[in-house]
Amino acid sequence: MEYVNLHNGVAMPKLGFGVYQIKDLQECERVVSSAIQVGYRLFDTAQRYHNEEAVGNAIFKSGIPREEFFITTKVWIDASGEDKAYTSVLESMKKLKTDYLDLVLIHQPFGDYYGTYRALEKLYEEGKVRAIGVSNFYPDRLVDLISFHKIVPMVNQMETHPFFQQEELKPYLKKYQIQHESWGPFAEGKNNIFENELLKKIALKYQKSVAQVILRFFLEQNIVVIPKTIHTERMKENFDVFDFSLSKEDMLNIKSLDEKKGLFYSLQDPSLLDRFLN
Ligand SMILES: NC(=O)c1ccc[n+]([C@@H]2O[C@H](COP(=O)([O-])OP(=O)(O)OC[C@H]3O[C@@H](n4cnc5c(N)ncnc54)[C@H](OP(=O)(O)O)[C@@H]3O)[C@@H](O)[C@H]2O)c1
Repeated sequence: MEYVNLHNGVAMPKLGFGVYQIKDLQECERVVSSAIQVGYRLFDTAQRYHNEEAVGNAIFKSGIPREEFFITTKVWIDASGEDKAYTSVLESMKKLKTDYLDLVLIHQPFGDYYGTYRALEKLYEEGKVRAIGVSNFYPDRLVDLISFHKIVPMVNQMETHPFFQQEELKPYLKKYQIQHESWGPFAEGKNNIFENELLKKIALKYQKSVAQVILRFFLEQNIVVIPKTIHTERMKENFDVFDFSLSKEDMLNIKSLDEKKGLFYSLQDPSLLDRFLN
């Protein structure tokens, strides 16, 4: 596995496994157990996914030492605020069967996320969490948060796929040494991504799949990727991305697919919060 170093020195695997939308707990435990067997050690869950127990069970039952894993969870809006967020992270730890977490993120910039961040700073200073960060924080919210807190977030997990490459955000991540982590590297299959002609052509050239080319495209840029799949064959395929690299020309070609806007939702849409809360 390759790693990136967060600005506090913590090593984070460059490739992990996401468990969003694997709601059935038995299914989730089975999927995570398979992913562990394939070799994944970074697991990305969230309070909102309602599957932290399943991730914890699979990790615990694997018998592999806890310190070999990198476990991320995220604090949801309903737990925002200093006290609530603090307690909610301790609950997440219980569900994940661990006495520390590798990374805790604020899931969305809504509610009392200032209070939430103070709770994360406290958990970090107490040694209960090895790294803290945010998710879905565009430059305006990111700079605001940084300006009024002691600890600069170590990670920002953002919608990032070939159709939305986050070029406007990147200079801010660089300035503050914040690690870019991609969510939805395959855009959850939107825009017929696996059938994209350019990506198919490049995949053929390297004798790799479209999925592997996409993951490689982000790994080349030191962006952490956490693809999700429930299929073991695809877990293996998505893991097998460290034996090739893309030429400068192919990197530029894939960059041309950027449409510079998200495919899922806009944080500027006032109805979004309603959707999140209900
Ligand atoms: N912070 C946030 O707000 C946020 C939001 C969304 C996601 N995330 C995180 O990011 C992770 C990844 O994003 P995501 O789950 O939304 O979507 P994704 O990883 O972009 O795409 C998952 C989809 O791609 C399919 N797939 C996976 N590997 C494939 C392959 N090799 N060939 C063909 N199809 C393949 C999966 O199908 P099968 O499962 O049927 O194989 C699934 O339909 C999540 O699981 C979650 O941990 C975070």
